[in-house]
Amino acid sequence: MSDTPMDASKRNWLLASGCVGAVGAAFTAVPFVSSMQPSERAKAAGAPVEVDISALKPGEKVTVEWRGKPVWIVKRTPEQVAALAKLEGELADPQSKRNPAELTPEYARNQARSIKPDVLVVVGICSHLGCSPVDRFRAGAQPSLPDDWAGGFLCPCHGSTFDMAGRVFKNKPAPDNLEVPPHKYISDTRLLIGEDNKA
Ligand code: FES
Repeated sequence: MSDTPMDASKRNWLLASGCVGAVGAAFTAVPFVSSMQPSERAKAAGAPVEVDISALKPGEKVTVEWRGKPVWIVKRTPEQVAALAKLEGELADPQSKRNPAELTPEYARNQARSIKPDVLVVVGICSHLGCSPVDRFRAGAQPSLPDDWAGGFLCPCHGSTFDMAGRVFKNKPAPDNLEVPPHKYISDTRLLIGEDNKA
């Protein structure tokens, strides 16, 4: 749900960056690089980040930092997975055909935009002006969203909406789906963000 304990890091992103975007936060880390331990330096420079998702329950999200960007890992419920198939006509790029090299690795060019149907991995930065969208996982009518909302993300800056696969809805300011970063599974419950089998 939108306010799980695991979501604290995302809240920090929002507090730190506001609407100027999580991208801006990346630059603030640079002056401190020389004072970091070697492993921290490697991480800041873009080393892959390993994440244990064994505790992630359906409907929950965890945020990790990779290359100064917030990366969201969402475990979708069976209902959220099923809803993806019904939204195609409402989406700007349902098959993730736009800028595939930058936005969607080959293994995520599917309806769920993911390796496993229930686990979404996306960069939490809006493709419009770089705000960090907020979770709106609960289905149904609610402020700023259509009555038939099936769950997803809302960018409060200019109202772009994304489904539970990070696919942007039609006629919104955001031109593209959320970016799926390179990633792979190193075990059933451990993900490596920033590296895939092509690396
Ligand atoms: S930055 Fe997301 S809609 Fe403008």
